[in-house]
Amino acid sequence: MSRRSIIAGTGSALPPRRVTNAELAAQVDTSDEWIVERTGIRARHIAAPGETTATLAAEAARKALAAANVAPDAIGLIVLATATPDQTFPASATLVQTALGIRDCIAFDVAAVCTGFLYALSVADNMLKGGMADHALVIGAETFSRILDWEDRATCVLFGDGAGAVVLKAVETDGAVGGVAVNSDRGILASRLHADGRHNELLYVDGGPSTTGTVGKLRMKGKEVFRHAVVNLADVLNETLAAAGHEAAEIDWVVPHQANKRILDATAKKLGLDPAKVIVTVDQHANTSAASVPLALDTAVRDGRIKPGDLIVLEAMGGGFTWGAAVLRY
Ligand code: COA
Repeated sequence: MSRRSIIAGTGSALPPRRVTNAELAAQVDTSDEWIVERTGIRARHIAAPGETTATLAAEAARKALAAANVAPDAIGLIVLATATPDQTFPASATLVQTALGIRDCIAFDVAAVCTGFLYALSVADNMLKGGMADHALVIGAETFSRILDWEDRATCVLFGDGAGAVVLKAVETDGAVGGVAVNSDRGILASRLHADGRHNELLYVDGGPSTTGTVGKLRMKGKEVFRHAVVNLADVLNETLAAAGHEAAEIDWVVPHQANKRILDATAKKLGLDPAKVIVTVDQHANTSAASVPLALDTAVRDGRIKPGDLIVLEAMGGGFTWGAAVLRY
């Protein structure tokens, strides 16, 4: 008997406060034209006092559970990807568990910055395959507005807050015993993850509990991050597609990490992908780090672009550097 994880439902949450480029330009030395031309970003959502990574994560999780028609108590595992937890400890996943009223489950956070959701998805997928649980909540949630240097125009215009979640359900791939029978190749078919810690100084936060004792602010050498991103993303997409036994031409939708429209375009071009098959939300959400892939996925599921049976590729790259991809049949 072998098991596979299917995405049974998706959900997302955004803080109500939407901040346009024009609003930012009133506070920092920038312009709507510069931001749109260099990044494709037009607006981002910013958390209000009291809105946190865990509250956004719980809202996204509730919507994903409703979409999946799964009761909170059926969840045996919560993996929350974030670089902006509510507290240094305990894990924000346990705050989500409490908010959802789940009495007992496995719950922990994963830190891989913008690749966090891909890491969390792969960890949860393998734990479901190994029989640790039958249903998992995989969440990416961030409040990057709290770690931005609002006087650094080169970074503060690029990020936003939000959360996205999926319910993963373990199914038997060779029969109906103990689960839903899957006779097709529906589910997560392959995922690949990477890290290269030598590039810490290109994208990092200048503080932490064990160094400065403060939270710190995000620092980035954008041009160099851009260069690495296009190469690493194209490589890991090809690697993961090969592992899944598929080719770029078969992809119905690419759901990329939403950092910069120019990175999305350059990666699609390098792989020879039709730009119309790339889900783009960076214009409305900016870079929401670990939340960006599940937020974009939920957006495209709810607006009807992604349909059951579609072949989907998720990909992301972020601080560390970390990068990864997953291929799945929705
Ligand atoms: N508004 C106006 N001007 C700005 C600005 C802003 N918000 N931010 C930077 N500038 C200026 C710079 O000061 C520089 O001016 P100078 O030439 O007088 O020194 C000029 O714009 C060009 O800056 P540069 O950093 O070279 O621009 P760029 O074309 O590389 O674009 C990024 C900058 C950050 C948009 C781009 O490098 C990028 O997106 N990198 C990837 C970042 C990323 O995705 N990170 C997350 C990965 S998870």
